[in-house]
Parts: sequence; structure tokens; C-alpha cells
Amino acid sequence: MSKKPIKHQADPDTTGHSWDGIEEFNNPLPRWWLWTFYLTIVWGIIYTILYPAWPLVNSATKGLWGENNRTAVAAEIQRFDDANAPVEAKLVAADLNAIGADPELSNYTRNAGGAIFRTWCAQCHGSGAAGATGYPNLLDNDWLWGGTIEDIHTTISHGIRNTTDADARYSEMPRFGADGLLEPEQIDQVVQYVLSISGQEHDAALAAEGATVFADNCAACHAEDGTGDRLQGAPNLADAIWLYGGDQAAITETVTNARFGVMPAWSGRLSEADIRAVASWVHSQGGGE
Ligand code: HEC
Ligand code: HEC
Repeated sequence: MSKKPIKHQADPDTTGHSWDGIEEFNNPLPRWWLWTFYLTIVWGIIYTILYPAWPLVNSATKGLWGENNRTAVAAEIQRFDDANAPVEAKLVAADLNAIGADPELSNYTRNAGGAIFRTWCAQCHGSGAAGATGYPNLLDNDWLWGGTIEDIHTTISHGIRNTTDADARYSEMPRFGADGLLEPEQIDQVVQYVLSISGQEHDAALAAEGATVFADNCAACHAEDGTGDRLQGAPNLADAIWLYGGDQAAITETVTNARFGVMPAWSGRLSEADIRAVASWVHSQGGGE
């Protein structure tokens, strides 16, 4: 680097520009800067030849090296798929009930099943599978449609009350209020009865009347004692676990307008290995029967 003294005003080596008597020096750019600049231009040209760069109408130039993030990701995914293929084949061939006892399969379903759940199921059932209003908790022993691995596998494969799978689990609670099947006072009575069998504060006189309403209108699905029926996905009303809420207002709303919980079918969207992995994962969460 030159250490020349700063030039004076009288120095002829100026650009000739002058603003209010202030003149501009005409010093050359430092060499190192200039050459770095030229180098970046050369680098840029070589880069656009070797790598995908210039946008065309429908795609972009491919680059001489054929290097591409998408093919790299696809290759990486393929590598994992190939590595998992043998254990997935074994999973699909296995008896559902034998998965938990096989260390290789249960290790696989614990990891893959958990990942599938977080990707496809957590939006509705919560990231930890504890559910929310209208979306059942999958960690407890309270099952609408059954908690054996076969039950869970069927629920996931075909879904519930959806219109896309002919084998979807289906049932429909009548809209007792909206369709005029029960008088408002009968609804009040049966709601008090449900409060009573679930061990909550209730009006004993109304509940006694409600017992008859219940036997006539509800027992066919929810059972005589209100403990529910898994063949129809009718919840147990005699416990403290509620899908839509167990206070007077929520129960009145359910009996008046009914609910219609829908779960999508996953066969067709997920592979059989994925469905088995997530079914096994749900089954292993604590409530599995
Ligand atoms: C769009 C929301 C939604 C998604 C996504 C969803 N579910 Fe569900 N799921 C529901 C609803 C609603 C119900 C309860 C339906 C009813 O009232 O019977 C349910 C019920 C279930 C049941 C039955 C529970 C019981 O008590 O019998 C299982 C098991 C289940 N889901 C597992 C899954 C798994 C595994 C996935 C991901 C592959 C998943 N669900 C994705 C909404 C969803
Ligand atoms: C045809 C069968 C059927 C009949 C009859 C029926 N239910 Fe239901 N009930 C269901 C089903 C299925 C569900 C779950 C609804 C859903 O997820 O959409 C349900 C849900 C409920 C719930 C919500 C439970 C919760 O955990 O939040 C209550 C409360 C209830 N029913 C009360 C009654 C009462 C009271 C009657 C009689 C007046 C009745 N049901 C009659 C099938 C029935």
C-alpha cells in the first residue's frame, strides 16, 4: 500500500470537479480492492455456468454440474426410505398384536409413529395427543370406538363420519331439540339426569323425571346405565370425561343440536406401514387395551 502524502489543493491530479472551491482527488482505487472486484465477476460467471442460475420461462438453466437442492433432498429421502424398507415390510406383514412385543418393530413405531402423529394428527388431537373440546384425548382409558390396536387401526384407516371412506365409522345422535323430538322441559329433565349419573350437582326431582326420558330416548345408544356403546361411538356419560363439555349448558347444547365429530380417513393418504406405525404409537401411549 502506498504511503504517499495527501495531495494539496494545487496538485494537478484532481478530477477537475469543484464544489464551492472543494476539489476531488483522482486517486486510483487500491489494487487489492480492484483485483478482488474482478475476481468476484469471474467467480460469478463460472458459478452461473456450473450451477443452476438463470431463470428461463418454465425452469432455469441446469448448470454443468447438475447440482440441485431438490435432487439432493430427493436422494436423501430415498436413502432413508431404502434404509427403512425392510422394517416397514416386516411391519406390514406382522400381526398387529405382535408389534409391541417385537423390539425392532416397537422401536421403529415409537419413532416413526410419533413423527407421523406430530405431522398429521396433532392439529386436531394436540401435539401430546391429549385432545381438546370435540377432539378426544388419546392418552386415557376412555375410548369412543375402542382401544385395542385393531380398533385404533380401523379408526385411523377409515376415519369417522367422513364422506370419503365407505367404511368410515358412523353413527348419528339425533338433534332432539332442533328437530322437536323432545320438549324443552324433557330436555331439562334428561340433562339433570345426565348430571346426576356423572356425579355432578343436579336437581333431584327433574333428574327423576329425566330417567324415563333417558331410558326411552338415549339408552339405545348410551346404554341403560349411561356408560356408552363403542359399536356406535356413543360416549360414556357416567364418568367425568367429556368430549364436548359436561356442564349443564354444554349437555343441553349437545342434546338440542347434537354434534357430529368428523375424522378424516388415512388409508390412501398414508401408507399401510405409516398407519400401523401411528396406530401402534397411539396404542402405546397409556390408554391402549
Ligand atoms: C381433522 C381433525 C382430525 C385429525 C387430523 C385426526 N383426527 Fe382423530 N379424531 C378426530 C375426531 C373429531 C374424533 C372423534 C370423532 C367422534 O366423535 O367419534 C377422532 C377420533 C380418533 C380416534 C378414536 C378415539 C376413541 O376414543 O375411540 C383415534 C384413535 C384417532 N382419532 C386417531 C387419530 C390419528 C392417529 C390421527 C392422525 C393420523 C388423527 N386421529 C387425525 C379428529 C381428527
Ligand atoms: C343414535 C345414537 C344416540 C342417541 C339415541 C343418543 N346419543 Fe348422545 N351421543 C351419540 C354419539 C355418537 C355421540 C358422540 C357425538 C359426536 O362425537 O359427534 C353422543 C354424544 C352425547 C353427549 C356428549 C358427551 C361428551 O362427552 O361430551 C351427550 C351429553 C349425549 N350424547 C347425551 C345424549 C342424551 C341425553 C340422549 C337422549 C336424549 C342421547 N345422547 C341420545 C349417540 C346417541
